Amino acid sequence: MKRKVLSAILAVAMVATMMVGCGAKEETAAPAETKTEAPADKATEEAAKTTEAGGKVGVAMPTQSSERWINDGANMKAQLEALGYEVDLQYAEDDVQMQVSQIENMIAAGAQCLVIASIDSSALVNVEAQAKAAGIPIIAYDRLLMDTDAVSYYASFDNEGVGTAIGEYVKTAKDLEAARAAGESYTIEFFMGSPDDNNAVLLHRGVMGVLQEYLDDGTLVCKTGRTSFEDTCILRWSQETAQQWCENYLTGFYADEDLDIACTAFDGFAYGVKAALQGAGYTAENWPLVTGQDAELMACKNILDGTQTMSIYKDTRLLAEKCVTMVEAVMKGTEPEINDTETYNNNTIVVPSYLCTPVAVDKANLEELIIGGNYYTKEQLGL
Ligand code: GAL
Repeated sequence: MKRKVLSAILAVAMVATMMVGCGAKEETAAPAETKTEAPADKATEEAAKTTEAGGKVGVAMPTQSSERWINDGANMKAQLEALGYEVDLQYAEDDVQMQVSQIENMIAAGAQCLVIASIDSSALVNVEAQAKAAGIPIIAYDRLLMDTDAVSYYASFDNEGVGTAIGEYVKTAKDLEAARAAGESYTIEFFMGSPDDNNAVLLHRGVMGVLQEYLDDGTLVCKTGRTSFEDTCILRWSQETAQQWCENYLTGFYADEDLDIACTAFDGFAYGVKAALQGAGYTAENWPLVTGQDAELMACKNILDGTQTMSIYKDTRLLAEKCVTMVEAVMKGTEPEINDTETYNNNTIVVPSYLCTPVAVDKANLEELIIGGNYYTKEQLGL
């Protein structure tokens, strides 16, 4: 229901801004029903209202090195601008100090609200306190901001649920119950997320919630012995590190036996694993099950050609939409939609959250989910 209302507001705002020519981007996807017959003066009135109601919003994003964050930033900017906000969108290219400076600059430039997807979620404590002292509310975007009471809301996906979905996928695809009954086993290695990202810890917990029992009874065999979060986390979600690890594993532990499952927490890792597998001579015959997260365009293409098995579809348009309702709430004193008030304790407060639902995507449902959901077009996917 609320989504419909927001879409209607967006539609009106987009028509209004387009008609008075005040800067709505052409590529902003305006739904078909935006072609209303509103007279120009009505549209101008609407535009004036949204501009009056607007203000400056600083959006701090971690990096442009992965496609998802480029989409996240673009969606946030388009949706906020459609509501009349002025947006300062900055990427810090995984440089923590650069992100701190960018946020300081946003505060100095008069931002009235900050949306932050952190690089290191505990490294922003001082600049967050600075924002709080200046009366600037903060929304945590996708990654929880830790150790601070300066954050008002958190928009994300169910992060443990992402891990559970990955674990369940492995369990079903390899039919671990049948393997257990038959006394068979599969080899598996883990490539988990960044230790400074709370999402990564939760994802690992979700994966192990499903797979631990099969590791314990030998249905799954991890030849490196690296199953704990500490042993499998990869700083800054580095694709290069994942590739290097995988290369080392394949030439060492797996020199005489194939790796059956590469359980990775991120599409970027799956790309690194793919390169390592190709380098080690794996072919379609012995290609392992490779998991990922984010349903990036490249990952979807790899799923179609069989070099990645699955990913987790996290619709960044929906995430941006939820985050925008939070910006509206802190700017206008309205109530955002919240569906979790218990889970996200950042060591200082429990942050009221909206968690979107992650969905596993593989070859079987990709067309329906991704093309049907208008996330990527057939052309983009090369179909
Ligand atoms: C995490 C996020 C993942 C993935 C990863 C690397 O915080 O939950 O979806 O994008 O960052 O960018």
